[in-house]
Order: sequence, then C-alpha cells, then structure tokens
Amino acid sequence: MKTVRIGLAGFGTVGSAVYRNLNREADLILERTGILPEITAIAVRNPRKSRPGGHFPSALVVRQPRDLVKRDDVDIIVEVMGGCTTARDLIFAALRAHKPVVTANKALLAEHGRAIFGESNRLNVPIYFEASVAGGIPIIQSLRQGLVANRFHLIYGIVNGTCNYILTKMSEENLPFEEVLREAQALGYAEADPSFDIDGVDAAHKAAILASLAHGGCVDFHQVHMEGIRNVSSIDVQFGHLLGYEIKLLAIIRWQSENKVEVRVHPTLIPRTNRLAATRGVTNAIVVRGHVVGDIKLSGPGAGGDATSSAILSNIVEAATHLHSSSDDRSPAYLCAKGPEVVPISNVVSRYYLRLSVADRPGVMAQISSILGKAHIGISSVIQPEGHEGKVVPLIFMIHDARFDAMNQALKHIQNLQCVKAKPVMLRVESFES
Ligand SMILES: NC(=O)c1ccc[n+]([C@@H]2O[C@H](COP(=O)([O-])OP(=O)(O)OC[C@H]3O[C@@H](n4cnc5c(N)ncnc54)[C@H](OP(=O)(O)O)[C@@H]3O)[C@@H](O)[C@H]2O)c1
Repeated sequence: MKTVRIGLAGFGTVGSAVYRNLNREADLILERTGILPEITAIAVRNPRKSRPGGHFPSALVVRQPRDLVKRDDVDIIVEVMGGCTTARDLIFAALRAHKPVVTANKALLAEHGRAIFGESNRLNVPIYFEASVAGGIPIIQSLRQGLVANRFHLIYGIVNGTCNYILTKMSEENLPFEEVLREAQALGYAEADPSFDIDGVDAAHKAAILASLAHGGCVDFHQVHMEGIRNVSSIDVQFGHLLGYEIKLLAIIRWQSENKVEVRVHPTLIPRTNRLAATRGVTNAIVVRGHVVGDIKLSGPGAGGDATSSAILSNIVEAATHLHSSSDDRSPAYLCAKGPEVVPISNVVSRYYLRLSVADRPGVMAQISSILGKAHIGISSVIQPEGHEGKVVPLIFMIHDARFDAMNQALKHIQNLQCVKAKPVMLRVESFES
C-alpha cells in the first residue's frame, strides 16, 4: 500500500465532491491500485463561509493556496478553485516544488497552457487535466492513450451542458430562448451571469484544449472562432425540424492538411440521424474520428461535482502511480510547442441555413437567388410558407458548401434589398459524413 497525500485547493462544487468521493471510495481505489489517497490540507477563499449539506473538514484548512505547496505532508496539488490568477500562481509554485498537479481549470489551460506545460516539461513534473474537458467523460485519456495510434481528422462534440439543456428544451417544448434560460438559471444549470456558457467561451476553451492534444501543439485559444446561442430562435429550431435537423452548439476540430486545422464553436444544424442529435439536456457527447479506429462516440455527464470528481480521482491515481515509480510521465511535450495554424473562419467552408424575413411579393426570390448566383453560391432547397400579399414572411434557403467570407459578402447585398425586412439569420449546417 502506498499512501499519497493531497493538497486540495478549492472546496466548492468540484472540491467538496472530490473530498466526499475520495473518502467514500478510498478502499475501492486501494483495492484496485494499491494506492491510498488522503486529503491532508485544503485551501478555500473564506473558511468561515456556511457550507450547507456537506461536512467541511475545517481542521485541514490552510491560510493561502500556496501554503499547500510548502507542506511536507502534501505530495500532489489538486487545483479546483477556477480563475486564472491565484490558480496559475499555485500551479507554477507546485511544479517548482516538484509536486504534480491535477486541475479541472479549462479557462487557465486554454489561456495559459503553453506557459504551464512549458514549465511542466522543463521541470519534468506532470500536470493532469482530465476534468478540464467534458467533466466525467475520459476524453483526454482517450486521446492520449486509448487512441494513441490514430490521427484525428475530425473531433466534434457537445461540450457545454448549459447550452445543450437550453437547445433541448427549445426543441422539445417549442419555448423561446429567454424563457428556457430563466428556467435553467432557476434549476442551477446556468449561472446568474450565463455569458461564459451561452456565448460559447467555455466550449471554445475546451475546443482549444482538445485541438492542442489532438494536433501536436498548443492551439491559441484566441484564434478559436466562437459564436454562442443567444441568437438561436425557436422559429429556426422549428424550421430545422421541418428540414430534418436539430440545432446544437458544437465544438468542431477538423484537420485540413499541411498543419492547418479548423477550430470553431457555433450553433450548428445537424441531421436528426447524426449520432449527436439525440444528446439531450446537460449531457455532453464527443465524436472522435481516428484514421485507424474510425468514428467513436463518448457520452456522459459533462459537469457537476460527482462526474467531475470522478475524472479528478482518476488523475490522482495516475499522478500517484508515477510518483511512486521511476518512469517518466511528463505532460505531453508538444503542448508547449507552437501548434498548427488555425484556419481563419473566413476561409472555412460549410453548408448554411439562411432565414430571411421578406415582403411577400413577386420577384423577391429572383433578386435573392441572383445575388447568391453571382457569388457562385449554390442553393440546395428553399422553403417559403404561404403568406399574404404584402405581409412579411420567412424565406428559408439551404445553401451548398460555401466559404464564410463569400456568404458574408452575399449577405451584405441581400440585407440591402428593399424586400428584406429584418437582419438575416445564418447558421452553419454540418453532416460530418466525410
Ligand atoms: N462545476 C463543474 O461542474 C465543473 C466541471 C468541470 C470543471 N470545472 C472547473 O473546476 C473548477 C472549480 O469549479 P467549481 O464549480 O467547483 O467552483 P466553485 O464552486 O466556485 O468553487 C471554487 C472553490 O475555490 C475556492 N477559491 C476560489 N478562489 C480562491 C482563492 N483565491 N483562494 C482560495 N480558495 C479559492 C472557493 O472558496 P470558497 O468556498 O471559500 O468560496 C471555492 O471553495 C473551475 O476551474 C471549473 O471551470 C467545474
């Protein structure tokens, strides 16, 4: 039996679940791995805060997160505070003290990953981050170990449970975005300030981490294209259904060639037959296309204390195993190298769903198709519900593959037409067939 002593930074949703599940499952972990994990010190922001429902081991609390690193009875640091300042300082201090780090902090890794992995490699002290993408789903270990013989031509997934909850409700109950968002906030699925989730930032953090791991170098988070779901309206969800699609917020990482990769997050129409279309509620799901294995799908709870702590406990065992062995387990060296070039969104090709609000009168269709035709943009189908002469009606185009800059340019001309009465809505359509 080998005991491993843990300094836990953070005792919120994730930290308290790590504490609870580690204590509850310590015997199981010992039986399976020969390692007995034990939390010996905890850092929180406010030790006096009331923490209803959970047992808070106040005797273990230290004054500052950095104090965890200094203690002789701490072998591994588990960082579940969040944020980029104190967490970054703590991780650097831990690495310099030769204490391996486990973290769930996707924002920190996406924004400062290159420096952190650089230090980890320089000092030969590993950092583990399974919980940073898709909570309880072992996607990081899959990419690093289970699928190590594969090149990843395509990874796409639902990696934000809040957005998927909102879009599922809009789809199944035909409710408007604002109403579902309010309900999600009341149920605790969305934050009081939901912008991080619904504007796509959280999903973009995860996309940057996955792209870096999959493609051999740190992908700059600031180059990830992100659009959130604020502008998805129930009318588009309903037209999507009519055409055989669901709308999902997807993170898409598509290898192009010659060190170029698309990394983007946006609402996407996917066929109802796609393996992610039926992913409901807060569930996350990721499809990985490996050139050896083909397509595999991983699905499960992407957030929440228990699910996230499951990933953290797995990392703790990994860290402890290497701490007690002489083998080398540096973080993947390439994560501190410059990553592949991220294709600018203007050059990305996809299909589109375009909804216009137009005056119902003769000649409208001809004007719009002429603009699209001149831009060499092909129309694959059109829906125009019956309207009343002179009234404003929706007009839906499904567009063949087109570059984003060409679509944007055409849209500017379309928007200026007198018959177009509101800002057009344009959503990408993906089938992921090849
Ligand atoms: N929640 C999830 O489902 C989930 C899923 C995957 C990944 N994550 C990631 O896990 C991390 C933690 O998330 P969470 O939801 O558990 O957050 P949380 O509930 O807000 O808990 C944060 C904890 O960190 C402590 N803390 C914050 N700043 C501190 C500081 N400067 N010094 C000392 N302690 C500090 C807080 O102390 P007090 O208790 O005194 O306020 C609290 O205990 C984040 O990086 C998040 O992105 C979360």
